[in-house]
Amino acid sequence: MSTGAAHEAHNVVTEATAATGLADEGAPIGHPAGVDEVVVLDYGGQYSQLIARRVRECGVFSELLPHHVGAEEVARRRPRGLILSGGPASVYEDGAPELDPALLELGIPVLGICYGMQLLARELGGRVESAEVGEYGRSELTVRESGLLFEGLPGEQPCWMSHRDTVFEAPEGFVALAASTQSPVAAFESRERQVYGIQFHPEVVHTPYGQQILTHFLRDACGCEMSWSAASIVDEQIAAIREQVGDGQVICGLSGGVDSSVAALLVHRAIGDQLTCVFVDHGLMRKNEGEQVVKTFRDEFSVPLVAVDAEDRFLEKLAGVTEPEEKRKIIGGEFIRVFEEEASRLSGAQYLVQGTLYSDVIESGGGTGASTIKSHHNVGGLPDDLEFELVEPLRSLFKDEVRAVGAELGLPERLVWRQPFPGPGLAIRIVGGEATKERLDLLRDADAVLQDEIRQAGLYRELWQSFCVLPDIRTVGVQGDERTYGYVVVIRAVTSDDAMTADWARLPYDLLERIASRMINELREVNRVVLDITSKPPGTIEWE
Ligand code: XMP
Repeated sequence: MSTGAAHEAHNVVTEATAATGLADEGAPIGHPAGVDEVVVLDYGGQYSQLIARRVRECGVFSELLPHHVGAEEVARRRPRGLILSGGPASVYEDGAPELDPALLELGIPVLGICYGMQLLARELGGRVESAEVGEYGRSELTVRESGLLFEGLPGEQPCWMSHRDTVFEAPEGFVALAASTQSPVAAFESRERQVYGIQFHPEVVHTPYGQQILTHFLRDACGCEMSWSAASIVDEQIAAIREQVGDGQVICGLSGGVDSSVAALLVHRAIGDQLTCVFVDHGLMRKNEGEQVVKTFRDEFSVPLVAVDAEDRFLEKLAGVTEPEEKRKIIGGEFIRVFEEEASRLSGAQYLVQGTLYSDVIESGGGTGASTIKSHHNVGGLPDDLEFELVEPLRSLFKDEVRAVGAELGLPERLVWRQPFPGPGLAIRIVGGEATKERLDLLRDADAVLQDEIRQAGLYRELWQSFCVLPDIRTVGVQGDERTYGYVVVIRAVTSDDAMTADWARLPYDLLERIASRMINELREVNRVVLDITSKPPGTIEWE
C-alpha cells in the first residue's frame, strides 16, 4: 500500500479539480455584491475552517486567511468583523503567532476564540497564564452577565474547551461574562472597544449554543445582514463567468463527480453552447456511471459533450501492471493525453473550467499567495502548462455549499450526493493484481450490489465512501455440494469528514448478510465476502 503524495491526492485525474494555477497574489476570492463578509484569521487551530463554515451558515460570507497576512490584506476585503481563531501555541512560546495591533485599529468588531482570546487579553492588558490543569473536552459554562454574546441564553450551558493557557483577568474596562470549571474568565467583552473573547469553541457541535453566540457577534456586534447563501452565488458567478470569457470558447473535463458537474452546469448556465464538456471514459468507472453522466449532461441539460470511449487504450496500457503507483502514473498520463487530443480538436478553446474548491484555495495559500503550494494538488491532474486561462466558479465554496449550488441548479440527487471516487477508479481497487476487463466487470457488479443495498438501507449519504475491493486471490468454498475456488470481495465502508481520518462504518449485521448473500448468489466467480474494520490511521481508505 502506498503512502506517497500521489496517494493523498484527492483530486487526481477524472475529478480534474486540481488547482493547477497558484492562488492569485493576494486577491480576495470575492463574494456576492451587497453581501457582508467577516474574515477569520487562522492561528493554526484544528477548527479554523469550521469557524468560517459556521459563519457562512449564519448567512454571512466568510474567508479564512493565514494569521500573518497583515491588517492591510484584511482591510481589502472590507469585512464587517474579524474573528481570531484558536491555535496550538502558547502565547508565551518563542515564535508563537503574534497579534498585529493594527488589526485592532481597523474600526471593526473583533472576536477572539481560544488562542485568539488569549492574544487579545495579553495585548490589551489582561492576565493570561499557563494553568496547572488544562481544560480539554466538555466543560460547564456559568454566565454571570449575558452581555451581547450571551443575550437570552441560559445561565448554565455546556461548552467545548481545548486549552492550557487561561485568562485569569480580563483587560481593564472589559466585562468578564462567564467562567467555567477551569477558566475564571471564559468570556469577556467591551462593547466600547468592540472587542469580544471566548475561551471555548462555539463552532463545534458540542457547544450547543455556539451558533447563537456567533450570531450575536455577527448580527449585533458587527451589524451584518445575514443574507449570504451558497445559492446566492449562482447569479453572481454567472455574471462573473460571462465577464471573464466574453464570447470565448470554454472546455471542461467532466468526471461525474460533484465538483466538475456543478462547475460545468454553472458555466453552461452562463454561456450556453460556448462550453464543451469532455468526458473521458477510461473504463475504470462504476457500473453504468459513464452512461449516466452522458445522459444527464447531454440529454437532460443539453450541454455540448464529447464522450470519449477510451477503455481499450487504458486497459492496454494497464496490461501486466500490478504496482499501485505505477497504475496511478499510467492512468494519469493517459488521461492527460486523451484530454489534450480532444481539446486540440475543439479549435479555439481558450478557457478551461476547473472545479477548484475553497479548501483547495486555502491549502494553496488562502488566496494570499503566501504559503507553500501543496505539490500533491498537481499529481496526476491536468498539467499547468496547458495553454488555457482557468475558469474556477467554485473557488469561494466549501464542499457542502457546492452541493447546495448543485441542487439549486437542478442537478439530480444522485450526482449532488455522489460519494468521492478516486481518479484512477476501480484500477486501484483490484489489489495486488492486474486490472483486466474481466476483473473490472466483476468488481463493478459486486460494487453495484453494495451500492444498491446501501442506498436501500438509507445509508448512502451517511457514509463518506462505501465500495468493494477485489484482491487478486482465490479461496476455497463449497456450493451445491461442489468445491469452489473463487474470488474474495472486500466491503469497505467508512465515515469521515475530510478523508484525512476515517472510521469503519458499523453497518448493521442483517444488511451485511444481505449484501454477502446477494454477491455470492448473483456473482458466480465470488465465493467469499469479508468486511474491512480498519480505521484511518493506521489504514488508508483505499487499499492501494
Ligand atoms: P486514502 O486511501 O489515502 O484516500 O485514505 C483518501 C481519499 O482520497 C481518495 N484517493 C484518491 N483520489 N486519486 C484520487 O482522485 C487517487 O489516486 C486517490 N487515492 C485515494 C480516496 O478515495 C479517499 O477519498
